[in-house]
Amino acid sequence: MSTQKIQAIRGMNDILPTQTPIWQHIEATIRQVLDSYGYQEIRLPLLEATELFNRTIGEVTDIVEKEMFTFTDRNGDSLSLRPEGTAGCVRAGIEHGLIYNQIQRLWYMGPMFRHERPQKGRYRQFHQIGAEAYGLASADIDAEIILMTARFWRQLGLNDLELQINSLGTATARAAYREHLIKYFSEHHNQLDADSQRRLDTNPLRILDSKNSDMQTLIEEAPQLLEHLDEPSQTHFARLKQLLDQAGVNYRVNPRLVRGLDYYNRTVFEWVTQKLGAQGTVCAGGRYDTLVEQIGGRATPAIGFAMGIERLVLLLDAELPKNVPHIYLIMVGDEGIQQGFRLAETLRDALPKLRLATNCGGGSFKSQFKRADKSGAKIALVLGEDEIAKQQVTVKYLREKQPQISVAQSELVHYLQRH
Ligand code: HAM
Repeated sequence: MSTQKIQAIRGMNDILPTQTPIWQHIEATIRQVLDSYGYQEIRLPLLEATELFNRTIGEVTDIVEKEMFTFTDRNGDSLSLRPEGTAGCVRAGIEHGLIYNQIQRLWYMGPMFRHERPQKGRYRQFHQIGAEAYGLASADIDAEIILMTARFWRQLGLNDLELQINSLGTATARAAYREHLIKYFSEHHNQLDADSQRRLDTNPLRILDSKNSDMQTLIEEAPQLLEHLDEPSQTHFARLKQLLDQAGVNYRVNPRLVRGLDYYNRTVFEWVTQKLGAQGTVCAGGRYDTLVEQIGGRATPAIGFAMGIERLVLLLDAELPKNVPHIYLIMVGDEGIQQGFRLAETLRDALPKLRLATNCGGGSFKSQFKRADKSGAKIALVLGEDEIAKQQVTVKYLREKQPQISVAQSELVHYLQRH
């Protein structure tokens, strides 16, 4: 039998008990804000037909070309672990009649999967909280969504994220712009790296996203999409900027913001930090007015975004209190254990927020005190023969210099409420 250790899959992390408090804090904070804007939760499967992602995210995007976890199941169907949530949300919306002729504000949370090269802030299983609004075509919902994301950061105490916005116009305007770009980059073909040469024919807009420092001047001088926008998209973008200005939200128009998924049109935006190197985008999204129709629903305007929870955790990892027990109950002897269990249940009934760890597994006073100390608890309660005889509990403070005291068991709830 092989004794080799089995380890987690590369890029797929365990989230350990020391980290879960910060995850819970982020999730609860975001959830509360989503709720206050009238978003409702939807829970979606992790597996979808591969075809769904090919048709939504786009055949020639990095995600579909090389990052999906795709396999053939026992029936011979091609399935993929979801690399993002929007496609599944639209699929479910159409399937259950949630989208047609209605306004829906939905949110979801959970793991997503992309076979990227793992590094700090980039993983193969990562977690997103995302939101999607359907049925609203005007720029006010774009502004509201951005205002909501700004509120997330305020609530979380993140104050150095930069908002970047851009407009991608309509598919037709983009197709015309694409031709301009192909012409421009073809004229400078020898300055393109291999990746960009390959993209020139398939997805030239993505060349603008290249991080290759040798190509930055070339990219800066490239024709800009904003200059080729159709009239209605220009008006839409101007209205969004006006609403953001009026609401006092700072932003930077980044004409090179194109996004890595094909379904966007008009508004796109990203919230970016300088603190996470190349993985600086903590939240990203935009409008996708043609997607619902593209996968079989009736034409419905849509806009949404998703944030990477791991990236928020990295930014917030500071000093959140850990969820250690408040109290550790030490029990010695058979009678001590019996009474201790009863007492513990009484305390939990009376004090629902109390975190109480009981000593399971027996042991001497000394070894139980050691465990109490290790647990991180502030107070040890002791039930031994003496205490039982007097119907008392000894209260000992583990982290502060305070004399230990005896409290009548009947008074204990009252005492703990005050301490
Ligand atoms: P995305 O830009 O691909 O957009 O991902 C959104 C966010 O998920 C990123 O900004 C980042 O914070 C996080 N993220 C992405 N990949 C990774 C990774 N490998 N490791 C850690 N975090 C990651 C979408 O997924 C769209 N569905 C957003 C959207 C919703 N647009 C409209 N509605």
